[in-house]
Amino acid sequence: MTQLFSAPAHFITIGNKKGGSSKTTTAITIAVALERIGKRAVIIDLDPGQNSAQRYLANRSAELPSPAVEIIRAQETDDRRTHRAGLYLAVIKATNEIMERHEPDFVIFDCPGDYSHQADLAHSAADTLITSINASMIEFPLLAEQDERGTYTRPGSYARRVAECRHARADMALAEPQRWHVIVNQYDPRARLELPPSRTAPAFWQRLALITERLGCELHAGLSLRAAARDLFLSGLTVLDLEPTTPSIEAAQLEARTMLAALKLPGITQTRKAA
Ligand SMILES: Nc1ncnc2c1ncn2[C@@H]1O[C@H](COP(=O)(O)OP(=O)(O)OP(=O)(O)O)[C@@H](O)[C@H]1O
Ligand SMILES: [Mg+2]
Repeated sequence: MTQLFSAPAHFITIGNKKGGSSKTTTAITIAVALERIGKRAVIIDLDPGQNSAQRYLANRSAELPSPAVEIIRAQETDDRRTHRAGLYLAVIKATNEIMERHEPDFVIFDCPGDYSHQADLAHSAADTLITSINASMIEFPLLAEQDERGTYTRPGSYARRVAECRHARADMALAEPQRWHVIVNQYDPRARLELPPSRTAPAFWQRLALITERLGCELHAGLSLRAAARDLFLSGLTVLDLEPTTPSIEAAQLEARTMLAALKLPGITQTRKAA
């Protein structure tokens, strides 16, 4: 729980400086999973240009347990340094108003695939920080720089930004430690993550396990690549809303529940077993 905001809640931030890395899908899946076990979740979309989270849930049936979605439209200005404090205050004020309206147990910030003051504040304020990536080595440079043999040399640009935001967290006197998770989505469902990866595991998992170890964050598998996941957008559904009528749906639901359990969120005693 952070003291930046006027009401108690657990803050989850989902970010990465990369577009299309499954951030919104992860935010919605976690929020729906929380709602389905009786927790109140509100997603705060920090990307008003795209407005994806709200559009995702727009066609969702009112009968289903649903998270609230809000958008914060704080204005970036050209003079980034002098306006940072003002922007932070605007986001804190807007978040407090949203929390008054919804009284959530969990606030989930869905960040844009770019740097912004809003995203920085969300990265500092998070009790649980989730960096969502897709299963491709092309995602690695943002996390870590490597030499030509794939040996870690130093944190990548996004990881350095996370480090700055974590320093700012200390400056904001937010004493509680932040848990940082890297969640991999859109992986081949036949090549699941084993930790620690064996010598025969795909090179992607082996290298990523080394990178996350060096960065001091936890590594988990999220949702594997499923054609059905794209179509679910049209009806505002997640895999957790489907009847488990096929092995593929059952497997996708287990992935979502396993991801939620791995986050070890407060007050969640869910096991990996299908409910
Ligand atoms: N497990 C999955 N299987 C198949 N497709 C997926 C899966 N997860 C996400 N996608 C698809 O990948 C695309 C990008 O996902 P998403 O919008 O969640 O990314 P994002 O990081 O929020 O993007 P942006 O940076 O634009 O906000 C979408 O078309 C989404 O439907
Ligand atoms: Mg998004």
